[in-house]
Amino acid sequence: MSLKPTSPSQMVEATSDRSDSSPRLSVEGLVGGYGSVPVVKGMSLVAEPGTIVGLIGPNGSGKSTFVKGIIGIVKPLAGTVQLGERFLQGRRPDQNVAAGLGYLPQVADVFGNLTVSENLEIGGYLHRKVRPARKKHVLELLPILGGRLHQKAATLSGGERRLLGLGRVLMGFPTVILLDEPSAGLAPQAVKTILSYLTSLREEGISLVVVEQNVRAVLSIADRVYVMMEGQCAMEGTATEIAGDLVGLGRAFMGHARDFVGPDSARPTTPEFLLGEQSRESEIEKRGSMI
Ligand SMILES: Nc1ncnc2c1ncn2[C@@H]1O[C@H](COP(=O)(O)OP(=O)(O)OP(=O)(O)O)[C@@H](O)[C@H]1O
Ligand SMILES: [Mg+2]
Repeated sequence: MSLKPTSPSQMVEATSDRSDSSPRLSVEGLVGGYGSVPVVKGMSLVAEPGTIVGLIGPNGSGKSTFVKGIIGIVKPLAGTVQLGERFLQGRRPDQNVAAGLGYLPQVADVFGNLTVSENLEIGGYLHRKVRPARKKHVLELLPILGGRLHQKAATLSGGERRLLGLGRVLMGFPTVILLDEPSAGLAPQAVKTILSYLTSLREEGISLVVVEQNVRAVLSIADRVYVMMEGQCAMEGTATEIAGDLVGLGRAFMGHARDFVGPDSARPTTPEFLLGEQSRESEIEKRGSMI
């Protein structure tokens, strides 16, 4: 199954304003937030073509703000966002989508009052001439949506809605997709389905930056992983390296527990993913020494 358009000329037409069909995404020293005080404080990340990059970190560490800074929803105060040869920082989100970035937000990823078909067409608004062929290919890749084309998006299950959001993004011929918690709120089977679609997109040469709370899930598919803490990169490595450094992960996720002031009921606890069945007891010991 291919995500590419039916003919090379369609691909050329859809992406004629792009100089490179498999560009590298390189973010350097991004600073940004919602007022004068930045939430993201100099975060860098590289996504090589055809790889999955995981972005994890505790709640409020700035993951969503960082990806909003890349796509352009949050205007960076400093830093660069480079896709291939082109610098994207400071440009509008729609300009960055035209340049090849795709973005699946953490919430509100589809238009509930529109049908599945209409949602897909909106995603391809920049590519009207090749939109029917593209839609056919996206539906081949996400066949669950094919039988629901005339159903309102609001009536889809959580997993189907997430796949429709992904389909809408794919309609824009992205070369790099930023996904903010694609597995959030989904049942384990739906998480597996989403993960398998993400790995098949990687096989098509698309790069994916996947923000996740489900650390186990992202470690299972990512090539490289970045751990964010308080707006900066706390750890970076291959998924194997990061998965093997439970102490480092514990520090990144629990670092603030040591200085925590407040009721015990609100004290940060060791995330579930750090408490694997075999290592649960030793991790509890480590946790004791960390707090
Ligand atoms: N629209 C906003 N206006 C003001 N502050 C915001 C806004 N969105 C997020 N913040 C603040 O920015 C900080 C980082 O939030 P962000 O959503 O980027 O974190 P996150 O790592 O994605 O967290 P989570 O894992 O809970 O999704 C938080 O302190 C949050 O309260
Ligand atoms: Mg978030």
